[in-house]
Amino acid sequence: MKGKLLKEILKEYEDIRLQEQEELKQREREVMSALPELAELRNSLVSSLAQKARSLILNPDLNPDNEQDENLVEEIKRKEAGILAKNGYPEDYLAPRYRCPACRDTGYVGNLVKEKCNCLIQKLVERTCRYSDLSNLDKENFDTFDPDVFPDVPLPDSNLTQREHMLKMKSVLWDYQEEFPDNPRKNLLFIGKTGLGKTFLLNCLAKAILDKGYTVLKISSYNLFEHLFRSAYGSGSEESLIIKESIFDVDTLIIDDLGTETRRNNFTAEELFNILNERYLQQKHTFLSTNLALSDLRDFYSDRVTSRLFDTQNTMLLRFSGQDIRLRGKR
Ligand SMILES: Nc1ncnc2c1ncn2[C@@H]1O[C@H](COP(=O)(O)OP(=O)(O)OP(=O)(O)O)[C@@H](O)[C@H]1O
Ligand SMILES: [Mg+2]
Repeated sequence: MKGKLLKEILKEYEDIRLQEQEELKQREREVMSALPELAELRNSLVSSLAQKARSLILNPDLNPDNEQDENLVEEIKRKEAGILAKNGYPEDYLAPRYRCPACRDTGYVGNLVKEKCNCLIQKLVERTCRYSDLSNLDKENFDTFDPDVFPDVPLPDSNLTQREHMLKMKSVLWDYQEEFPDNPRKNLLFIGKTGLGKTFLLNCLAKAILDKGYTVLKISSYNLFEHLFRSAYGSGSEESLIIKESIFDVDTLIIDDLGTETRRNNFTAEELFNILNERYLQQKHTFLSTNLALSDLRDFYSDRVTSRLFDTQNTMLLRFSGQDIRLRGKR
């Protein structure tokens, strides 16, 4: 059964399609009256197809020749484009104008098996997610990255300053989004104490990946596991269910602040393993940030989780260290 939100969005798609049809009719009326040549061409197509239909009805033994019809339509379209161009109109003036050419604004793609189109998945995520934390992306992205917020003092155990280190991270992640989605390592794990710019860089990635046309769900670990818990124990809202589905649908799942979720014995560890494993099997990207040290991660989650997370074949680990820039700003 379709939930209220999904129904609501599909109704919007329907309205968009109706509006597009109306606009197309409007353009048709306009050019048909301006260019009689074109009107004649359309009429000739209609009468020749009507004639065909009539002879098929009268002689049921005749085979309908679809290929021939398609060729005829194609030829007329070519002629139409020629007439339009000759008269100063765009060649595609009489073609439907879809906002999403992939699904033609139906929300679904595929013939035999219908799957949600990326545009529908992203809409569901955005509508649901008050929790998706995507509202900050105009402020926190690769263009607004400001190296000067980081102190230019050497980091312990490194020959770089904190600022240089962050510039290096930015450059690594810039390359990552350029290669996206074909990166050999699909997981990113950001580790470091509070106020070091982890969420900011996750936002940079989220924006870049959305701009490339892929879907992103960014959610705090706390909210994620609240929703999963509620939907597992029957008190889930439609929102919880959509989040539960989106976790596996989206191209990139970003879990911010792993470790801040409510501890519920095995529940969290099992769910997290399920997410990481399923997304690994589907070769989808999962980015996580945490304030926990590697040893804490081992203690808090199961071995199955940490062996997925620490698998260097599939996970790139990025360590953040230095001074908390929130405190620095206050000084
Ligand atoms: N590269 C940057 N350019 C400009 N501002 C930044 C940058 N990195 C971080 N900030 C700002 O510094 C503050 C702290 O950064 P951020 O929230 O990313 O830290 P964090 O590592 O995620 O901390 P926490 O672990 O507490 O979540 C935020 O207000 C953020 O906007
Ligand atoms: Mg953060």
